[in-house]
Amino acid sequence: MKLNLTVNGRSKEVDAEPRRLLADVLRTEFGAYGVHIGCAQGACGCCTVSVDGESRLSCLTFAAQCDGAEIQTIEGLGDKTRAHYLQRAFMAEHALQCGFCTPGFIMALAPFVDKAGDPSDAEIRDAMSGNMCRCTGYQSIVAAVRLAIELRDAERGAA
Ligand code: FES
Ligand code: FES
Repeated sequence: MKLNLTVNGRSKEVDAEPRRLLADVLRTEFGAYGVHIGCAQGACGCCTVSVDGESRLSCLTFAAQCDGAEIQTIEGLGDKTRAHYLQRAFMAEHALQCGFCTPGFIMALAPFVDKAGDPSDAEIRDAMSGNMCRCTGYQSIVAAVRLAIELRDAERGAA
């Protein structure tokens, strides 16, 4: 079936069987290799992307459900030349080791950090509760979220 998807601002018609997963289409048709497939069953959060502004697990979403949608992956959030404040905070706080889980954490946390005031540790941990990391541990990720909120405020103050 023909689908129209807009991924990181680029619109394209793709021909995808109804059973094809969004994660697979994003990687193979759009080169969004930051969409990582860990468990492929909704348990690890590695494949999180934004679909029309809502966080979605792309391993549990059929591409056909996203016809006409605007999708953002980690590549669209920011890159080396214009890193998003969460990306900068993860680097500064050493909140990653192998990095496999990182795009999923950042895509899941981006809407939370966008709106957060002064969250408690418990609220931050709740916001990242759908994501698993096998190497870093979670405390440095909590620290990264706090730093990201500071960087966000500095960015908004400067705007
Ligand atoms: S790969 Fe989608 S939740 Fe694990
Ligand atoms: S940094 Fe390796 S799984 Fe999280």
